[in-house]
Formats: sequence, structure tokens, C-alpha cells
Amino acid sequence: MKTKTFASDNYAGVHPEIMEALVLANQGHSGSYGGDVYTERAIQKFKEYFGNDIEVYFAYNGTGANVLGLSALTHSYNSIVCSDLAHINVDESTAPEKFTGCKLITIPTTDGKIYPEDIEDKIQRIDDQHHPQVKVISISQTTEYATVYTIEEIQAIASVAKKYNLFFHMDGSRLANAAVSLNKSFREFTCDAGVDVLSFGGTKNGMMFGEAVVFFKPDLARNFKFIRKQGMQLHSKMRFIGAQFEALLSEDLWLRNASHANRMARILENELRKSPEVTITQAVNANGIFAILPEGIIPRLQEEHFFYVWNDKTSEVRLMCSFDTTEDEIYNFGEKLRKLLQGTEPNA
Ligand SMILES: Cc1ncc(COP(=O)(O)O)c(C=O)c1O
Repeated sequence: MKTKTFASDNYAGVHPEIMEALVLANQGHSGSYGGDVYTERAIQKFKEYFGNDIEVYFAYNGTGANVLGLSALTHSYNSIVCSDLAHINVDESTAPEKFTGCKLITIPTTDGKIYPEDIEDKIQRIDDQHHPQVKVISISQTTEYATVYTIEEIQAIASVAKKYNLFFHMDGSRLANAAVSLNKSFREFTCDAGVDVLSFGGTKNGMMFGEAVVFFKPDLARNFKFIRKQGMQLHSKMRFIGAQFEALLSEDLWLRNASHANRMARILENELRKSPEVTITQAVNANGIFAILPEGIIPRLQEEHFFYVWNDKTSEVRLMCSFDTTEDEIYNFGEKLRKLLQGTEPNA
């Protein structure tokens, strides 16, 4: 099936350069569980971007990276502050609760972000034995609304973490899209801005599978090899994650893919803005668009380019672009949208 969609960057396939790296890695035998040259070289690539003083561990998926990264920071009597939309709160079943044992303390968000004042409001009853003890602030960059925290916003959250002796975790399943949006290096809005542990995404930016947990204070990774194994994220044929990351972080592939996806989202935004019946609900910072469409046209529009309805009550939809979205698809979508709105699209 060749149909492309605006459903998710996870609907996209694997970038040909990643596929090539997988094929090249598929030669002979290689050490297992990370004892291979591909993993070693990929970790070296991470060090080129983030500096030598990091610890990097690969995981299969984003949920695993988040949950295990958070497990390394917490005890089961702790709590984790995040937005009510956070992937760890709404899209990881109860894995965060099961594996960390922690309570998630959520902050309502209208733009996907959480802000220092609201976080401080949630930091209560420190040292009270009856109360869950806050230990981590977790944010997503980009957010679940495809918005992007500025460096100043991240630094401000880091200051709250520092003030209350908390850890700062970042879910970067779309970190590359954020880097492109900010036009900054990865370092500038992660470790240099005060983040302690990062989930670095590969899958949504052209990999077949694989995410990384990056510790900016190596001490925090002390027990992580045990945590990862216990959490069932230790890949035996690790070379196939390493080879993918090595390719993604070479020849600017991550940058090319994320730049393309973000640019497609801007073109799609322009198409949508041509129709006054459509309301774009969030700033288009990265590779996703949230918009309210007239309810009646949604099923017809979904026929050719499937996308998800984000909120049934308001008819808000989410349109995601990826490294393989084309301008033609966007213009076709825009044209179909306008025909449906004008009532000139024949019935199916
Ligand atoms: C914000 C965010 N974090 C993490 C993930 C990773 O999830 P998965 O476990 O499906 O790889 C996703 C995937 O949709 C996401 O949107």
C-alpha cells in the first residue's frame, strides 16, 4: 500500500539511508547486547553532539526510554510533575506508574507546555511522610501539541528543579523537530539548559525502531544497565539500533529529515489558512498542526489522507508531517478540503 497519511510520523516508513545502514550492519556475526562496533560508534556520535560527559543507553521504544529514564531518577514514594497531555500521562498506559511506582502529578495545559508558577504550585508538603515526594519535572520537547519550548522556558523550569532539588527529564521523541524549530544545537536546549535525563527519539525521524536514554550526569546512570534489563528494553542484537543511530546522526540525516517535516507542516498550515472555516488552534512550531474543521467534512477528507481526530467534541484534528511527506500530497489535501467546504466535491 503506497498511500501516505497525515496520521502520524510513526506511519512513515524507514528512511532509505537507515535501511541501507541496517543492510550494511547485517554482515556476519557481531557482539550482542551492545558489545558491537555499531553501538560503540553510535554512542560516539551522541558524544559529538552532547559532549563526552554523558551516558547513553539504547531502548526499543519511546515508552521504554521514558519509563526507564524516570525509574533511574525515582523511588516508588516519589511523584513526577508533568502536563496533563504528557505522553507519560495519557499514552503509556500505566507503564510509568507500574515501573516507577510513582504518582504522576499533572498540570492542565492549553499549549502543551507547563510553566514554572504552575509547577511550583504542585510542589507541596516537602518532607511530609504522608505525601508523595516530588522528585522529577518531566516535559516533552516538542510537546504533544507540536509546540516547542524556548530555551528560556526550559531554563526557567530548570531553575525550579534546582530550587527544590528535583531532577529534570525531557521526553524528546521529536527532539530533532524541536532543534530545527529553534535553530539551536541539541546541547543548547537540553544539557546546557539544565536537563538531567533525555529520551532521544529516532523512530519518528526515519528510523525503524530505537530511542536513546541520555544521562547528562553520568552518576545518575549508575544502575541503569540493570534497570534496562529488568524493564525488558535490552536488545540482544543491539547493533541494529546502533547502526540506525549512527546513520541518523551522520551526514546531517536527522537535520534533513526534521527540516523537511517541519517545512511540510508550514506549507500545510498555509493551505489550511486559505479556508476561513478552518481554525488553527496551536502555534505551528514543528511538524504537527492542530485545527478545528467543520465536522461533516472530516470523514470525506480522511478517505485519501487519513488523520486522527484529536477532540471529538470540538472537531479538532491533528495533522502530522514526516520526512517523506510531499508538497503534492499537501496541495491535493488543500484542494480536496476547499472543494468539500464549497460543496463542489462529488459524493463518493
Ligand atoms: C511525546 C511522545 N513521547 C514518546 C513517544 C514514544 O512512544 P512509543 O512508545 O510508541 O515509541 C511518542 C509517540 O507517539 C510521543 O508522541
